[in-house]
Amino acid sequence: MTDTDKTKAASAMWGGRFAGGPAAIMQRINASIDFDKRLYAQDIRGSKAHCRMLVKQSILTAADGALIQEGLDKVLAEIEAGDFPFSQALEDIHMNVESRLGELIGEAAGRLHTARSRNDQVATDFRLWVRDALDGMDGALRDLLAALLDRAEEHAATVMPGFTHLQTAQPVTFGHHMMAYVEMISRDRSRLADARNRLNECPLGSAALAGTSFPIDREATAAELGFAGPMRNSLDGVSDRDFALEFMSASAICAVHLSRLAEELVIWTSAQFRFVTLSDAFTTGSSIMPQKRNPDAAELVRAKTGRVIGDLNALLIVMKGLPLAYSKDMQDDKEPVFEVADTMELAIAAMAGMVRDMTVNVGTLRAAAGAGFTTATDIADWCVRALKMPFRRAHHVAGSLVKLAEGRNCGLEDLTLAEMQAIEPGITEEARAVLSVESSVNSRTSLGGTAPSRVRQAVAAARRRLAEDAP
Ligand code: ARG
Repeated sequence: MTDTDKTKAASAMWGGRFAGGPAAIMQRINASIDFDKRLYAQDIRGSKAHCRMLVKQSILTAADGALIQEGLDKVLAEIEAGDFPFSQALEDIHMNVESRLGELIGEAAGRLHTARSRNDQVATDFRLWVRDALDGMDGALRDLLAALLDRAEEHAATVMPGFTHLQTAQPVTFGHHMMAYVEMISRDRSRLADARNRLNECPLGSAALAGTSFPIDREATAAELGFAGPMRNSLDGVSDRDFALEFMSASAICAVHLSRLAEELVIWTSAQFRFVTLSDAFTTGSSIMPQKRNPDAAELVRAKTGRVIGDLNALLIVMKGLPLAYSKDMQDDKEPVFEVADTMELAIAAMAGMVRDMTVNVGTLRAAAGAGFTTATDIADWCVRALKMPFRRAHHVAGSLVKLAEGRNCGLEDLTLAEMQAIEPGITEEARAVLSVESSVNSRTSLGGTAPSRVRQAVAAARRRLAEDAP
């Protein structure tokens, strides 16, 4: 077919009342085929289910049904082989498939659209696509979790400084820090699973907006397509895009988590920190500065989070002004969703790679863990425990010790017992033992705390949940 023929074929589908064809610019603004061709597999799957149901309900003859099924298989094979003639003149994936079906099987192709509209068709296709994307993303997140858990277990007792305000606060373990991300990513999985549950209702059979006069069986098509059941309201069926918004909002929150970890990697790999070293596989050099090893992948994960948030915003803004039911604005739902899916796939895989490959610089972390009087809270806690001092007074004692050490340019552990007793006479040799970073982290055994024993328990519990596939 030439392009003019295709324009004719397109308007044959809806152009009964039209005298002229669309302007070239109309065709360009209207056509979605360049991006919605990604729905081809879902579109054909949906059409096959619809066709089977039409035959079962005696709306189509078995002979027409068989022709259509065979034809759709051929169309699928052509697309998968890469020799399908996608055409802008045919607007979208639905009309491209139907028009080619007509070329292959003739008139019977025109019966496939009985009791259906592109409105419920696209809503069904897109739900199927997003459902696959959710499943793919869950698999990728499981892989990232596995990487985080391995590193957490390996470094359950590796001490590092914990920060608040990016100021050294108290010593924590590297494993504990990794496990914080395990919690975030697990919540992301739970949000995706939740979104998938709500997504999994079938709009097919809503037709254009009002349902149909044909005796269709919506339960049958819903079941065949793996949905839990049909959507209850046809107007909602064709105009709801919550599933796309939920996919993108769960993705955006997940991307924020990835971005925070990416930001930490950027900070940790800097010459001033050197907490971790990223592998050659996930860094680049500079064309002018030979000493450089740049954390590009981490920086890009951080950057791409902006796109994901932007895509969510874009569709929220498209939807906010739309009256019921379908409006063409909704065709603009696809590019943001596709971009989010592609971006998340890249970002999650890059993060898993970085986490798996990174070298954790245990010596540097240990030195940093002790710098900045990070065990000051421990000496205050000791005063509370051993001397029954009110915490506020103990805080003051520890503060005076810090001031003294700071003036001497030494660590708390370098103060002599006599010096310490000059500030608080109750302090004993035993108190000095709590000043080591190891003793500090070992003591933090409260539930959810940073003690290596707690971290190992948390790792084991998270591994169990992952094996049971409970986010
Ligand atoms: N390509 C369209 C979309 O993605 C399909 C639905 C078109 N429906 C219509 N009535 N024009 O939204």
